[in-house]
Amino acid sequence: MTFSSAQDTHLVTGGAGFIGSNLVDRLLQGGCRVITFDNFSTGKRCFLEQALTNQNFSLLDGNLSDLNALIQTMKETHIDMVWHMAANADVRFGLNHPRKDLEQNTIATHNVLEAMRINNIKKIAFSSTGSIYGEPSVHPTPENTPFPVQTSLYGASKLACEALIQAYCEGFGFSGYIFRFVSVLGERYTHGHVFDFCRKLIDNPHELQVLGDGRQRKSYMYVQDCLDAMLLAVEKCQGKVNIFNLGVNDYVEINDSIKVITKRLGVNPKVKYSGGERGWIGDNPFIWLDTSRIQAIGWQPKVSILDGVLKTLEWLLSNRWVLTERSEE
Ligand SMILES: NC(=O)c1ccc[n+]([C@@H]2O[C@H](COP(=O)([O-])OP(=O)(O)OC[C@H]3O[C@@H](n4cnc5c(N)ncnc54)[C@H](O)[C@@H]3O)[C@@H](O)[C@H]2O)c1
Repeated sequence: MTFSSAQDTHLVTGGAGFIGSNLVDRLLQGGCRVITFDNFSTGKRCFLEQALTNQNFSLLDGNLSDLNALIQTMKETHIDMVWHMAANADVRFGLNHPRKDLEQNTIATHNVLEAMRINNIKKIAFSSTGSIYGEPSVHPTPENTPFPVQTSLYGASKLACEALIQAYCEGFGFSGYIFRFVSVLGERYTHGHVFDFCRKLIDNPHELQVLGDGRQRKSYMYVQDCLDAMLLAVEKCQGKVNIFNLGVNDYVEINDSIKVITKRLGVNPKVKYSGGERGWIGDNPFIWLDTSRIQAIGWQPKVSILDGVLKTLEWLLSNRWVLTERSEE
C-alpha cells in the first residue's frame, strides 16, 4: 500500500521493538521520514540495521519519562505524526512491579501527548490491546462492548492511555487512532507464548511446562497484517477518535499452538500443565475480538494464526540469540 503521508515526518516511539521496528521499515519503504525514540529497555539496535542505512531515518536514544527530552526532540525534528508504540508490553509480570505499567505506559503516554501539545503536533496512533476488555462476556468482542472490570495492571494502564488520548482529542483538537491488538506474531518477536515454548523446548525437548490447562482460547495476528491495518486506518479515517480492534476472525487453543511448535521442532515432550483456566492472574482465558469495523474499511488479514506461529518459530530458530537474551521479569 502506498501511504499518502509519504512526505511527512513520523516519530515512532518504541521503534526498536518488535512491532515498532517493523513499522519503521514499512514507513521508510513508503518514502516517509522516520525518527525513532527508544530507550532500548526491550528494543534491539539490530532490528534497525536496515533502517539505519536509510537517509530518511534517525535514531534517538531516549526515555519517555524525560518530558523535556521529548519536547526538545519534537521541536527539533518537525514531526507531523506520532506512532506511540513504546510501552512495557508484558502483561504477565505486572504484579511483580506494580508501578511499571503506570510509569512506562500511562505516564509515558501523558508525556508524549504533552510534548505533542506543546509542539502543536496533533496526530497520534497508539498501540493499545485487547487486554483492556478484561474478561468480556461477548465473543467476538466488539469495540463498544460494555467494559466489565480490569484484570491486569497492563490492561488498566493501557485503558488509561486511551482515555488520555481521547481527552486530548476533545480538548486540544488532536486526531487519535487507537488500535486494540490481539497478541502479535512474526519476525523480531521477543516475548509471548511462542518465544517461551521455543526457549523451553530447546533447553529441554523432553518436557514442556504450560501455565494453565492449555485450553485457553486466544487470537493472534501476524505483524505485517497488523501494520497493514494501522496504515490503512490512518490513511482512510479522518474522525477525531478512531478506535479499532485488530485481530483475525479466529482463535486457537494453546494446545493447538503447542502441536504446531513441537511438530516443527521435531520433539515429543511430556506436557505438564500448572492447571486452572488462567495461566496467571490477569490471563484472559478467551480472547477473540470482533474486527468488522476495520474490515469495513477494506482490510483483511492475510496470514492465519497457525501460519503466524510457524513464521515466528522460523524467525526465532534463525535468530537464536534472542532466546538467550531476554530473562523472565
Ligand atoms: N506484541 C504484542 O502481542 C502486543 C499486543 C498488544 C499490544 N501491544 C503493544 O504494542 C506495542 C509494541 O509492543 P512490542 O511487542 O513491539 O513490544 P517491545 O517490548 O518489543 O517494544 C517496546 C519498545 O518500547 C521501548 N520502550 C519501552 N519503554 C520505553 C521508554 N520509557 N522510553 C523509550 N522507549 C521505551 C522498548 O525499548 C522497545 O523498543 C506496545 O505498546 C504493546 O503494549 C503489543
